[in-house]
Amino acid sequence: SESAQSTSANDSGSNKLITIGFSQVGAESDWRVANTASMKSALSEKNGFKLIFADAQQKQENQIKAVRDFISQDVDVIAIAPVTETGWETVLGEAKDADIPVIIVDRMIKVSDDSLFSCWVGSDFQKEGVNAAEWLVNYMKEKGKTDKQNVVVLQGTIGSSAEIGRTKGFGDTIKKYDNFNILAQQTGEFTQAKGQEVMESFLKQYNDIDVVIAQNDNMAFGAIDALKAAGKAPGKDVTIVSFDAVKAAFKSMIAGDMNVSVECNPLHGPRVAELAKKLMNDEKVEKIQYVDEKVYPAEIAEKELPNRQY
Ligand code: AHR
Repeated sequence: SESAQSTSANDSGSNKLITIGFSQVGAESDWRVANTASMKSALSEKNGFKLIFADAQQKQENQIKAVRDFISQDVDVIAIAPVTETGWETVLGEAKDADIPVIIVDRMIKVSDDSLFSCWVGSDFQKEGVNAAEWLVNYMKEKGKTDKQNVVVLQGTIGSSAEIGRTKGFGDTIKKYDNFNILAQQTGEFTQAKGQEVMESFLKQYNDIDVVIAQNDNMAFGAIDALKAAGKAPGKDVTIVSFDAVKAAFKSMIAGDMNVSVECNPLHGPRVAELAKKLMNDEKVEKIQYVDEKVYPAEIAEKELPNRQY
């Protein structure tokens, strides 16, 4: 009968795994490793997914190739954590032509036509940058430091929305205060090794660095090593402001090396899983979803560490 037919179609529909291709940035930081773990665990077979995972090794060209592979495999959904903001129009147009919904996660993209992706979930990076600057201004005020504070910035991957937002949010806020002076800013590619290398070169050029803004914890760890090797005391002589708030940052704060970490939440797996299921069921999804994030200064690190999930 007709009803028997539709019942069996529904049954097979609900049991079928959703095939999702995920193009990940890379494995450049503790944050990224936690993000990959969250995605893999939420997009598992037990949760109704068949995940095709592709690591782009921080290169957008690899992501574009991966997305084309996903299209040729006719996946049900594509998820992308984009390395950079721009350069997505063509490949997303191909996904749209193939009728495959695209979820953008973590960093944002800039496209002229918003219909090229279904939805986005991630962080408000500009707000994180503002939070870092406001924390620094208050900290110096509380310490009674009204003299000029020289700042160096270790930026993330240039052109990534994490870098763009944090640079702008921090820069726009700090320039309202005339006792802060940005001496230099340069990319450390979000990695510990590059963070250390760039910090070493800053230390050769400037002997009066008061504050390091590291746009992620791993670059901060590299900078802390460079400062110690140069005979400085990070966390004391030089204020260390960082982003992500991974577990190792809490340990660094407890050790007295880091002063604050502005949270960036990597636990997007369950959010992406829910969005993918809704898209497959033709349910309405929110186009843009920001996650909640906090600021963790050193004085609460010990109390907070046991609660950290990443
Ligand atoms: O896009 C999020 C950023 O990318 C995190 O701050 C950083 O650690 C990661 O590499």
